[in-house]
Amino acid sequence: MIKDELQQLISEKKATIGVIGLGYVGLPLIVEFCLKGFNAVGFEVDEHKTSEISAGRSYIVDVTSENVAKCVIEGKLTATTDFSQLANCDVIIICVPTPLRKTKDPDMSYILTAGAEIQKYMRPGQLIILESTTYPGTTDEVLQPMFEEKGFKLDEGFLLAFSPERVDPGNPQFQTHNIPKVVGGVSDDSTEAAAMLYGQIVGQVHTVSSARVAEAAKLWENTFRAINIGMANEMAKLCNALGIDTWEVVRAAATKPFGFMAFYPGPGIGGHCIPLDPHYLSWKARQHGFDSQFISLAEQVNSTMPNYVVELATTALNDSKKSVNGSKILILGVAYKKDIDDMRESPALSIIDLLRADGADVYYHDPFVPEVTFDHAYTIGAGDPLYNKELTDDLIRESDCVIICTEHTPVDYNRVCELASLVVDTRDALSVETRGESKARIVRL
Ligand SMILES: NC(=O)c1ccc[n+]([C@@H]2O[C@H](COP(=O)([O-])OP(=O)(O)OC[C@H]3O[C@@H](n4cnc5c(N)ncnc54)[C@H](O)[C@@H]3O)[C@@H](O)[C@H]2O)c1
Repeated sequence: MIKDELQQLISEKKATIGVIGLGYVGLPLIVEFCLKGFNAVGFEVDEHKTSEISAGRSYIVDVTSENVAKCVIEGKLTATTDFSQLANCDVIIICVPTPLRKTKDPDMSYILTAGAEIQKYMRPGQLIILESTTYPGTTDEVLQPMFEEKGFKLDEGFLLAFSPERVDPGNPQFQTHNIPKVVGGVSDDSTEAAAMLYGQIVGQVHTVSSARVAEAAKLWENTFRAINIGMANEMAKLCNALGIDTWEVVRAAATKPFGFMAFYPGPGIGGHCIPLDPHYLSWKARQHGFDSQFISLAEQVNSTMPNYVVELATTALNDSKKSVNGSKILILGVAYKKDIDDMRESPALSIIDLLRADGADVYYHDPFVPEVTFDHAYTIGAGDPLYNKELTDDLIRESDCVIICTEHTPVDYNRVCELASLVVDTRDALSVETRGESKARIVRL
């Protein structure tokens, strides 16, 4: 039985772990296996990443270069673009991107490419696990037939499971080792082997009856988040209309110890997960004739938040007899969330686009992001790239409006409020004290 053989290898830490895709998900994962004593091979298409790893350097915020170097020096970690080495792996974990097409349908091309590489170099006795977020049915409808086509039988020739990744980049409290792992195999043997594997690197493994349940659980988690943020955003607009401070309302409601979970409004949603994942679920639902209305509504509210932020800035400038056209606008924070460098789907991109389309002179300061390009499919414009500007006193003073899009910790918001004339705060970055002493006009989401 290949399950017994694999479990033996795993328990003795003799199983070689292959990870396909060494990004925000794959790199922390592979390093965790190496730190726990496994030999691992990372497979990448980006040669820059493989050479960085080989040189002992990390390019992911939650992984230290010290740990990468340690794993490389001890001979536990190698990274390669040569997929023929997949044949040497006992376990293969797929961590490639799952973006959307322009039509907002799932783009399965990365999973299919990774699956094709595995199919090419597969040998009997391997456990294959998909970690990329995807619609229910991907593992058994898409991957399983590819491996069977090669002539291998499930349980006899290979094992196959889905285990969603829940890593939260930049979160110092929860990292790979202390985030419980959900595991669902396409067979019982697959579930058991995959659960045992993850038990080596995480404290808690929760098994479910199928890969589909595990796939659906991940999408539920992120859809839950997208919908609740959508509601927080709608509440922000509603509170603004009523002249009530949204943030004060959320903080008050959050004191209830049960039946309420705080979600916060913001300039829109970003990152590779929350804006995309609900579409994977609604797309699959549509195949079955089901229309997921909550998902559509949240998408509509969240995706128009950048327009709302621009509206707030426009009205505030207008009050000072200024137009957006010709105004100097400083965007503070462009990454999609606090204290990380990830620009994927960042709402700041849409805000910059909209302001530039209206004729504003837009620039930004973000201690984590040196450069912003506008060739993304999800921005409306294709303007010139922008480069991080030093946050000097003159820069703040000369700006007609400062829009706080992301509340990075290193930024001195007291100084911003001392020197600026108008600040639009979309993140509750300014404390009550800062606001109290501020000479600037402050507009809050
Ligand atoms: N970023 C997150 O916070 C997060 C959290 C949970 C789940 N996820 C999910 O995990 C998956 C990966 O996301 P990510 O953020 O790590 O993406 P990423 O873009 O940071 O990393 C993916 C890596 O895969 C590489 N790649 C692409 N095609 C490849 C191929 N055929 N072979 C080898 N490497 C290939 C890319 O070069 C890239 O380095 C996605 O499905 C995402 O939804 C991401």
